[in-house]
Order: sequence, then structure tokens, then C-alpha cells
Amino acid sequence: MSSQPTVQAPSDPGRLPTTLPLLMGKKRLGEPIVMVTAYDFPSARAAEAAGVDLVLVGDSAATTVLGYDATTPVVLEDMLVLTRAVRRGLRTPLLIGDLPFGSYEVSDEQAITTAMRMVKEAGCEAVKLEGGGQASVSRARAIVGAGIPVMGHVGLTPQTATALGGWKAQGRTAAAAARIAAEALALQDAGCFALVFEAIPSAVSEELMPLLEIPVIGIGAGPATDGQVLVFHDLLGIRDGLGPRFVKRYANLQQEMNAGVTAYAEDVRMRRYPGPEHTYKIDPAEVAELRSLLQR
Ligand code: KIV
Repeated sequence: MSSQPTVQAPSDPGRLPTTLPLLMGKKRLGEPIVMVTAYDFPSARAAEAAGVDLVLVGDSAATTVLGYDATTPVVLEDMLVLTRAVRRGLRTPLLIGDLPFGSYEVSDEQAITTAMRMVKEAGCEAVKLEGGGQASVSRARAIVGAGIPVMGHVGLTPQTATALGGWKAQGRTAAAAARIAAEALALQDAGCFALVFEAIPSAVSEELMPLLEIPVIGIGAGPATDGQVLVFHDLLGIRDGLGPRFVKRYANLQQEMNAGVTAYAEDVRMRRYPGPEHTYKIDPAEVAELRSLLQR
């Protein structure tokens, strides 16, 4: 038996892939739906090993892995590269690709073209778009009409956070909450298979949930939604600072990574690494022959 630790936990071979009817079944039965973001092969393997239901390659990639301070700069080509890597790491969760800012707003045709690229070139099974205004609802309807399942996203929509007054909770007045309700219902009517509620008061989610027939996944929307989503880097602490109030941290990987790389750097500087166990061997007779070859 090898003494090497298992790097990738295997997925449960008996687990069935998530389908849209399976998701609806979970909603009907009141079984919580688990969604997480992923941006590369290792994060996809972690999601697979944990047996989550849905994986989103979020445009949060802009901040988590690409180093931007907002989601708006990420482009479709970035999303395609990241999503392909996630695809290679997943077997059972349904893979949803976020449509990045600027890749779907211009027209229904643009939205369909972008969604098709996410499906054909990156292996997505569904796409997500932000907003519940007239344009977003039209884009969602068009993409669904082209045969691609769409997840809607209302409340705090980071791509248009500036227009919403910044990165802050939404729906905190009756009128604002009623607007979110209208947007959610319009997206459901457009054929979305599920919705994300982001950063809205729990009491608002509680009022809206009975109105919706499709699964709703919350992030900072309280416990009433059908499921929860967190950003991979937030829940594992792969970031500086604590992040938004709704984040629960399950590990402190940034600290562990910093400590690991610091220890490695120290080992190299102190000539403690590499040790004999990290080197390849060669027959001394071959070394002697090499020496004579080099002297010629
Ligand atoms: O981009 C993202 O990670 C998201 C989730 C927060 C839902 O949209």
C-alpha cells in the first residue's frame, strides 16, 4: 500500500447525476439543495467528493481566481477556460455556467449565442444570468426557447451592483421586496428552472417562497429557500478578510497555503530541501562514464 495521502476523494459511484426532475423532486420533498461554486479541476473534485447537487462556475471567478475587484471585467473566454476545467472534474452535480457581464445583455441573439458556447465548448448543462428586469427576462426566455436550461438571479446582482447602490442587501423596503417578487415571478414565467436569491432579508424570502414553484437557492437570503449556495473561496477561507456577513467559514486555507509556501521557501533557503528522499538515483558506474564523456 502506498503511504501517499489520497489527493482527490473519489465520488460515490452509486450517486446519480443531478437532473432537473431530480431537483424538482428535492423541492417537493423539502430536501435541501446544495450548490457551490467551482473554478478549476481541484475545486470541482472537492464538489464532486462532497456530493453537492449543483456546481456553478460563477463570474465570481473574477474576484476569487482572477484578482479583479469586481465581477464585471471577466469575459466569456475566461469563463470558457475555467468551466472546461470544472467539467473535467465533475460527474454527478449539474454544471451551471454564469454568463458574464456584457455577454448577453445586448440582444436575445447574443444571449443564445453565448449560452450555446457555454454548452458546446465548455460542457455546461445550464446557464445563469443576472437580473429580473425586462431585458433579463427576455434573454432568459430566449435561451430557454433554444433548449438550454436557465437559472435566474435576483436581489443583489453583482454585475449591476453600482446601479443598485453598491454591494449591499436588497429588498429592505416593502416596495423593493415587491420588485424582487415581481422579477422572480417573471423569470419563473420565462421558463427558468431555478432562481438564486442573493442578499435579501430572511423575512422577504419567507414571504416569496410560497409564490414560487421552481427551486430557489439562497446566498444571504436566510433558511427559507430550497437550497443554499456559497462561493468556494469564501467557505474555505481562500481569501483575505472575512467576506460578506452571510459567509460561514469551514476552513482557513489561505492561512494554510501561506504557511506551506513560507515553510518551503525557508527550507530552500536553509538548504533543507531537497533531501535525499526527493532525488533520483543513478548507478555510480554511469556517473563515472559521464565524467569521462564530459572530459573529452
Ligand atoms: O458568481 C457567483 O459566484 C454567483 C453566486 C454567488 C450565486 O453568482
